[in-house]
Amino acid sequence: MKLSLLLTSALSLLASAIPYTDLKTGISYSAFFDTTGYSFGIALPVNATGDFIGLVTGKGTGWSGISLGGPMVNKLLIAAWANGKTPMASFRKTPRPGSPPEVTGTFSLVPIANGTYTNTTHWCLTFLCKACILTDGTTFARASATDVLGWAYSSAAPATPASKSTTFTKHTKQGQYSADLAAARSPMFDTWAALAK
Ligand code: HEM
Ligand SMILES: *[C@@H]1O[C@H](CO)[C@@H](O)[C@H](O)[C@H]1NC(C)=O
Ligand SMILES: *[C@@H]1O[C@H](CO)[C@@H](O)[C@H](O)[C@H]1NC(C)=O
Ligand SMILES: *[C@@H]1O[C@H](CO)[C@@H](O)[C@H](O)[C@H]1NC(C)=O
Repeated sequence: MKLSLLLTSALSLLASAIPYTDLKTGISYSAFFDTTGYSFGIALPVNATGDFIGLVTGKGTGWSGISLGGPMVNKLLIAAWANGKTPMASFRKTPRPGSPPEVTGTFSLVPIANGTYTNTTHWCLTFLCKACILTDGTTFARASATDVLGWAYSSAAPATPASKSTTFTKHTKQGQYSADLAAARSPMFDTWAALAK
């Protein structure tokens, strides 16, 4: 009993902290993978201010949702999906469970072309998230060694994939995990961030 509990928690810790280097861009991430096809990797500067680099994937016409603060409600969310062969993303925020409306702010998302594509099974979006780490409690903290992130995945397409402000039906799978943000930090960050145009 104790041993199996220990093994289970060791495994879920590992699952949220896989170091992953993407060969298409050379960027290294601290990454979380789920069997749905959802994955999210994060790269940070050694001393983070507001920016991070993200790599989010999903399968087919399904969508992926990232909570930068852990829970869905009252946190800064990023929704991502593919419109045909074009990966799409927008910021979202909601005070209650339900399709979260688009939100704008000083934060912005700039794609990194070599890491943004669709293949026969998945879509993949690599982006510089500028001024995305906020100090209002709606995201993880810039100096954290570990912090809670949330994820959600739906195998169903968004209602209007061509529109950045599309609505969604509820995800089919979701959760929260402890992300290893110490492992996400790299002195290469500025070089990688310069790939975003
Ligand atoms: C009609 C659409 C949606 C509904 C009704 C909905 C509802 C919910 C509910 C009730 C939960 C709590 C866990 C559960 O009991 O299932 C949850 C969790 C979550 N949702 Fe949504 N959601 C929707 C869309 C979205 C979208 C578009 C995103 C991201 C862009 C998102 C992100 C999350 C995340 C990250 C969690 C896990 C963290 C937590 O448990 O709070 N959701 N959602
Ligand atoms: C992007 O990919 C192309 C084709 O593989 C490659 O020639 C180029 O060097 C890559 N650019 C960067 C910045 O990695
Ligand atoms: C990060 O901050 C620490 C403490 O202020 C400083 O000593 C270090 O040089 C900084 N590193 C970088 C890469 O900016
Ligand atoms: C498509 O891209 C995903 C995400 O990078 C990858 O896991 C998968 O192996 C790729 N599939 C093919 C057929 O290349």
